[in-house]
Amino acid sequence: MITEATKARFAREVAKYPPEQKQSAVMACLSIVQQEQGWVSQENEAVIADYLGMPEIAVHEVTTFYNMYNQQPVGKYKLAVCTNLPCQLRGGNQALHHLEAKLGIEMGETTPDGMFTLQQCECLGACADAPAMLVSDRHMCSFMDNDKLDQLVDGLRAAEGQQ
Ligand code: FES
Repeated sequence: MITEATKARFAREVAKYPPEQKQSAVMACLSIVQQEQGWVSQENEAVIADYLGMPEIAVHEVTTFYNMYNQQPVGKYKLAVCTNLPCQLRGGNQALHHLEAKLGIEMGETTPDGMFTLQQCECLGACADAPAMLVSDRHMCSFMDNDKLDQLVDGLRAAEGQQ
């Protein structure tokens, strides 16, 4: 559900563009919804489409194109491991498998406590730092060998009082 307060945030984004180009605010509107609700449902895509005067499918195309938009609820921390070729050549797949084993889930799943969702992702533009990963769409992590992956997960768990 989109509240009036959320629509007021949409309006601030729309105001950054000429009136005939308000669709340019689609990514910002999707980000607002995700920020507030943790993911973007099809129902909310429809609200955004209506708000911006664009077809629902066009909004859905944006949601599905960018890895950062969650199309279903995710854990508190989203761990996205790059598995494109440069990272793969330097342990990207190994990093993903290490996290699967450590978290006890497979790629695409969320831990039963709702803490971690594990995903693979496309190139993060940090190939020289391979294997690279992104935490919760915001924090880039470089050179993620097994020790650093352990430190990351253990550190996040500790911060949540799980250790
Ligand atoms: Fe992984 Fe570019 S291939 S960051």
